[in-house]
Amino acid sequence: MNQTHLRLGVNIDHVATIRNARGGGHPDPVRAARQAAAAGADGITAHLREDRRHISDNDISRLIDSIDLPLNLEIAATEEMLDIALRHRPHAACIVPEKRQEVTTEGGLDAVGGHNHLQYYVGKLRDAGIRVSLFVDPDIAQLEAAAALRAPVVELHVGAYCEAHLEDRVGARTQAELARIVGAAAACAELGLECHAGHGLTFDTVAPVAAIPQVMELNIGHFLIGEAIFCGLDASIRRMRSLMDQARAEAGGARSA
Ligand code: PXP
Repeated sequence: MNQTHLRLGVNIDHVATIRNARGGGHPDPVRAARQAAAAGADGITAHLREDRRHISDNDISRLIDSIDLPLNLEIAATEEMLDIALRHRPHAACIVPEKRQEVTTEGGLDAVGGHNHLQYYVGKLRDAGIRVSLFVDPDIAQLEAAAALRAPVVELHVGAYCEAHLEDRVGARTQAELARIVGAAAACAELGLECHAGHGLTFDTVAPVAAIPQVMELNIGHFLIGEAIFCGLDASIRRMRSLMDQARAEAGGARSA
């Protein structure tokens, strides 16, 4: 039986996106982070993009100075982002692929082909005491590469599962994508990698991922912030938290029955 607490990292990028649409300071992502903490988040996640379309450098300083929760900073593997991470020393850094033209992070890192490039960044972040994760597709070769890079954590990109769910709900494509995630999470345990998951999760898609015993953390942003328009940020996060906890408890109960 594994009923370990499943951590929720709330990604506050899209509070900043709305602020940036007008300039100025409203809505403030740091205020959102405080509210997320009060609603049951275990951590705050933010992606500092090369084009700063979400959070800014100043937001990172403010988050680190005024939030008690651990900050998971998502960054591309570039010298600029490494310098910023080493200056701010967040609790964790998640290395993500980044293309300037993409609307969102479209797929996982290529940890296999990018081994030599990534090795330098993983090493520098690790040496600074920052917990490093690699955002990869649920693909065994990518996980083996992450382990060879000595990254302690991987975050599985679950976007393909969430997209399949939009099309066929609980149909064959969704089940196949979910099976890939379940298999990848089991492989993480064998490879000694802590397993996280994220991208595209909603109230409708979170439970099967939350039920996977090896998954220790979910990072969720866009849906929570979008839903907050209708029910408020506090209610949006609390509902997600409760769906996660319920799925985890039910899965633990089923395994021990
Ligand atoms: N995890 C990582 C590594 C991401 O890049 C993102 C998107 O920025 C998320 C989680 C959150 O995805 P979403 O905003 O779709 O919930």
